[in-house]
Amino acid sequence: MHQMDSAGNEQSIAPEIIGDVHDSIRAIQWLDNRLCLLDQRRLPFEECYQYPVDAVEVAGAIRDMVVRGAPAIGITAAYGVVLAARNRYAQSPDGWRDLLAEDIRMLASARPTAVNLSWALRRMERHSAAIAGDPVGELLNEARRIHAEDLAANRRMGEHGAGLLRAGDSVLTHCNTGSLATGGYGTALGVIRSAWRAGGLNRVFAGETRPWLQGARLTAWELTRDKIPVTLITDNAAAYLMQTKQVQWVILGADRVTANGDVINKIGTYNLAISCRHHGVRFMVVAPCSTLDFTLDDGQDVEIEQRPAEEVLNLAGRRIAADGAAAWNPAFDITPAGLVDYLVTENGVIQAPDRQKLAALKPASP
Ligand code: MRU
Repeated sequence: MHQMDSAGNEQSIAPEIIGDVHDSIRAIQWLDNRLCLLDQRRLPFEECYQYPVDAVEVAGAIRDMVVRGAPAIGITAAYGVVLAARNRYAQSPDGWRDLLAEDIRMLASARPTAVNLSWALRRMERHSAAIAGDPVGELLNEARRIHAEDLAANRRMGEHGAGLLRAGDSVLTHCNTGSLATGGYGTALGVIRSAWRAGGLNRVFAGETRPWLQGARLTAWELTRDKIPVTLITDNAAAYLMQTKQVQWVILGADRVTANGDVINKIGTYNLAISCRHHGVRFMVVAPCSTLDFTLDDGQDVEIEQRPAEEVLNLAGRRIAADGAAAWNPAFDITPAGLVDYLVTENGVIQAPDRQKLAALKPASP
C-alpha cells in the first residue's frame, strides 16, 4: 500500500513487512482490519496475540503491558483511535467526533511517562478534525503512516548510531528497545542490529532489567530470534562489567527527552550513566523525535510511573520477599543531560546534548 505524504512524496505505509534474518519481528500489526498485538507478558515462553476491539481494550493492553516501549505505545494508541472511530461512527454518524475525543482522553491516561503516547494521539486527533463523513479509512492511513515513519526513523537511527562505533566494540543495553518496543527494528537495539549486520560488534550484553525483566525476557528473546548473540547480566553486574573493560558503550532508549536534554528511561538508566562516566564508557541514547518533549523544561517535571509493589516482592508469580516487607517501584528514572555523551535521532547525532543543540530539532509547528 502506498500513500502520498504532505510534500507529495510517495510513502510506503505497509510497516508490517519484515526485514531480513536479523530483523524478523513485528509486535504490532494491522491485519484483516484488526489490530494484532504480540502479548509481551507471555514472552519468552509463549507467543500469543491479542486482538483488542475498542479503545477500552487498547488502553487496557497498554496499561497491562501487553504492548510496551515508548514508540510501540504511541503506535498502538493510534490504531486504537481507528477502532474507536469505527465504533463511534457506527454509533453516531453525526456525533462521533465528540465521542472519539472522550476515547482519546482515556487512551492518553493509560501510562503517564512515555511522551510518544500523547504525541501520537494529538496527531490522530488533529487529523480527525478535517475529516467529513466516515473517518475510518483516513484515520487508518494516518495510523499506518505513524507506524511506517517510526520504522523508517529506526532504520536511520541504526545507521547513525552504528557509525559511531569502532570495529570490535562491545556494548551493554538495558530494558528492551527493539522491534518489540517500536514499530519495528528498534531504537538502541536498532543501532545494535545495524552494527551487528555491518560486522562491527564484538559482544552484546543485556541487563536483565528488574523487576519486569524486559532484558532477560524480551531483549534476550528478540536477539536470539534474530540471530544476534547476547550475554545476559544481572543489573548489579554492570559496574563490574565496565571496570573489567568488557564494554566500550552503553546504548539505550528513552521514554521522554526534555528540552534541556534530560533523559527519562527505564529504571536503572541513571545508575548506568553514572557508572559510564566513572569508567570512561560512552553513553548513547537513541530516540526518535517523537520522544522529544519541548513542553517540559527539564526531567524533574516528568511524571514517573509507579508500578505495583508485587512486581518487586514477587518473581514469576511467586513471593520472594520476606513477609511484611513493603516495596518502592518507580518504572523510570531521570538521567541529567550532562551524563549523556550522544543523543541519536533520525535527524542526526548530537554530542553532549544541551538545550541549544536540542532546539535545532524542534519541529517548526507544534
Ligand atoms: O516499561 P516499559 O517496558 O514500557 O519501558 C520501556 C523503556 O523504558 C524503553 O527503554 C523505552 O521505551 C525506549 S524503547 C524504544
